[in-house]
Amino acid sequence: MNSKPSVIVAIDGTAASGKGTLAKRLAAHFKYAYLDSGSLYRAIGVAVLRKGGQPTTEADAVAAAKTLDISQFSPEDLRTEAAGVAASQVAAIPAVRAAILQYQRDFAHHPSGGQAGAVLDGRDIGTVVCPDAQAKIFVSASLDVRVQRRIRELRGKGELVIEARVRADLEARDVRDSSRAVAPMKPAEDAWQFDTSALNADEVFDLAKKFVADRIAKTAV
Ligand code: C5P
Repeated sequence: MNSKPSVIVAIDGTAASGKGTLAKRLAAHFKYAYLDSGSLYRAIGVAVLRKGGQPTTEADAVAAAKTLDISQFSPEDLRTEAAGVAASQVAAIPAVRAAILQYQRDFAHHPSGGQAGAVLDGRDIGTVVCPDAQAKIFVSASLDVRVQRRIRELRGKGELVIEARVRADLEARDVRDSSRAVAPMKPAEDAWQFDTSALNADEVFDLAKKFVADRIAKTAV
């Protein structure tokens, strides 16, 4: 073991809060690896649906998690609202979470491209996957703002969008994600809770970049 421990940045938060955009930009800025952990749950959910199974049925979801091959899914397959709902259903099953826990930890601690650190975004990165992360941010925004952000994202991809449906899906997802028994969505005690409702993506990035740089400097030996 001659390499320095990887710097880990954990970005958690509610659905459509902008955490994915932020995490990607932070990873590019600090030249760290990036893992969107939600895409793993989305891929498991879509795999179940492709096989004609039920995302809420444990046997279907666990089988998909154990045989997950992320290369079988394009970003377009994963970013639909239906994929998000299926993801949140499979994510409530403890055995599904257990099946992909080590993969996420390995990614964080040993970035495969040899980067000095990793940025992971999700719901339980700061609390369960990487409680040892040097910088933790919990991103939130009001429901109204998140509905508008998600509508813009989906319309930009040419999806047919019904606002009431997007709102109901986001609300149901937040309730399911924060009330599940295992790894519920919640800020880690040492996370910076960052409400982005009144900020644009550049403002969010600038503030978060300063916070992460400061945390890295403070934890450097
Ligand atoms: O972040 P994203 O919206 O892509 O995540 C989709 C779903 O995957 C979430 O609603 C949540 O249920 C689940 N998820 C999770 N834990 C993570 C990341 C995502 O439970 N670390």
